[in-house]
Amino acid sequence: MFVLNTWYIAAWSKELEDKPLARRICDKPVVLFRGKDGKVGALEDKCCHRGAPLSMGYIVEGGLECGYHGVVHDSQGRVLHVPG
Ligand code: FES
Repeated sequence: MFVLNTWYIAAWSKELEDKPLARRICDKPVVLFRGKDGKVGALEDKCCHRGAPLSMGYIVEGGLECGYHGVVHDSQGRVLHVPG
């Protein structure tokens, strides 16, 4: 049981550098990342396409690219690019 609707410490700033970071917060998988624009994103660690863990992806221009098919999400979770 977790206290919801409150703040939890997710990571140190220095942990968010050149690759995504997987964490479990309140028993939910979360991916943390810092985009090339410096904005930090905290998203469900599950790609909206086929559910691959986004934490296995790559930081690219504009956000976080899924390592499976390459869908790019910004720090708000919006899809910016779909290959093909
Ligand atoms: S599962 Fe992420 S792009 Fe397909």
